[in-house]
Amino acid sequence: MEISKCVWRKSERTVFALRELYASHGFGYYRMSKFEEYDLYARNKEFLVSDNVITFTDTGGRLMALKPDVTLSIIKNSPDEPDRTARVCYNENVYRVDEGSGSFRESMQCGLECFGRVTAADAAEVILLAAESLSGLSDRWELSISDLGLLEGVLAGSGVPADYGARMLKAAGENNIHELESLGAECGCPGAAEGLAELLACSGPFRESAARLTGRSAELDRVAGAVGASPLADRIRLDFTVTADINYYNGLIFKGFIDGVPGEVLSGGMYSSLMRKLRRRSDAIGFAVYTDKLDRESDTREGRGTDGFVNVALPKGRLGDQVYALFAEAGFDCPSILENNRRLVFENEEKKLRFFWVKPSDVAIYVERGAADIGVAGKDILLEYAPDVYELLDLGAGRCFMAVAAPRGYRDDKSGTLRVATKFSNIARNHFGSVGRDIDIIHLNGSIELAPLLGLSDVIVDIVETGTTLRENDLEVTEKIVPISARLIANKAAFKFKREAVEKIAAGLRAAVGNGERK
Ligand code: PRP
Repeated sequence: MEISKCVWRKSERTVFALRELYASHGFGYYRMSKFEEYDLYARNKEFLVSDNVITFTDTGGRLMALKPDVTLSIIKNSPDEPDRTARVCYNENVYRVDEGSGSFRESMQCGLECFGRVTAADAAEVILLAAESLSGLSDRWELSISDLGLLEGVLAGSGVPADYGARMLKAAGENNIHELESLGAECGCPGAAEGLAELLACSGPFRESAARLTGRSAELDRVAGAVGASPLADRIRLDFTVTADINYYNGLIFKGFIDGVPGEVLSGGMYSSLMRKLRRRSDAIGFAVYTDKLDRESDTREGRGTDGFVNVALPKGRLGDQVYALFAEAGFDCPSILENNRRLVFENEEKKLRFFWVKPSDVAIYVERGAADIGVAGKDILLEYAPDVYELLDLGAGRCFMAVAAPRGYRDDKSGTLRVATKFSNIARNHFGSVGRDIDIIHLNGSIELAPLLGLSDVIVDIVETGTTLRENDLEVTEKIVPISARLIANKAAFKFKREAVEKIAAGLRAAVGNGERK
């Protein structure tokens, strides 16, 4: 029976087109069961995007899982043959917790794996297949490649303690130079921060950046010629904000983006470290395309995301007024915003800027989901919700700090669980977790200072600005957790497709912040 192509969703068309592409490069189609023994995931939890796995007991009493991942199963069910090159491709549903809704979602992944003996030619071919996959999805795409070996080399070479290493890689992933510098200073390894910042500055068009780094990475040198020779390399960039868990990935890793879709639509890399963990001698490289995201693309594509404007989410209220003043000083103003009305969207047609007033705690969501390209959010919100965004600049506005506070004279005798009232449950959990203190979180939405006064909690974790609220309620700071201020954040995909405009705004704001500090 012939099926008219117009009834296919974009994701369905893509699945067949990709399978055809991969088959033409000798990747055999790999079909597998939806179930896998849970033990495989329990042993490799960090490899998964989330710990949450749907489990059930099968008729034989074994604990099984609905697959949250495909790669682990393919490797587990394939022989370890380091002298032979295996090439397989798949399209399979995986079951993961959706970060937005917090509930499980079934989503389609379409990808390929090359393992066993992986030559330089194989690695280059897989990278170019990732690029070709993206080019088939959209005419505005970008493949960002990073070299985990280089990033890790900087950390190992400067003797950074492991916990700081992970935090520094995270900061590099957020393009967050100011955080890198302060972490470097804090752990006594400023050289590591400089080294990572230098790599971030080497990010750029693939051919030029790879040439600049010649001789520094065997992995990169191995593929640079073949990848650079392809016309697809025009849309490939070296981008050291792409990072991954070094226990699983090694060498080259990459993520693919298309305009109009907020997060990455493709992710992959070399994962020989995972192979060693699974006691395999073989090497491996592969990637997956998240085809479901393509259907969502049509929702945003025709809308505000791709009309050439830079969309800016500003926090409503006093902080927003201060921040808007910085934008205006930097030359990115929008006079209609000062009119006294209840509109929430303001445009400057000439400068192609659109501002939204958003509840301060929602800015990060707007930016992470691509409804805004950039925005200004407090560091408290970024620490609490850990959105997947770039943090480009500390604007210095709204300075305050996150603290533990308690009734004056309170002493924690550590004999029982500490009751902590807060709006910032994750920050509180991480803080007390890092000092090994057992706590009970009481999540409140405001007037936190009231909780210890009424015996609802022992202490609070909250923002302190002038200290007036604490003083007037007979509370005092017992520990400072972290300084807070407003940060300029950017959606990772928007940053790629509106790079020039966003970098111009960031540079203007940096100068305005500098002027303010000098005054
Ligand atoms: C914040 C924070 C403190 C207060 C600190 O509350 O939660 O209560 O400001 O400022 P201060 O040190 O200058 O007194 P916010 O005004 O946001 O209201 P909330 O009680 O709803 O959190």
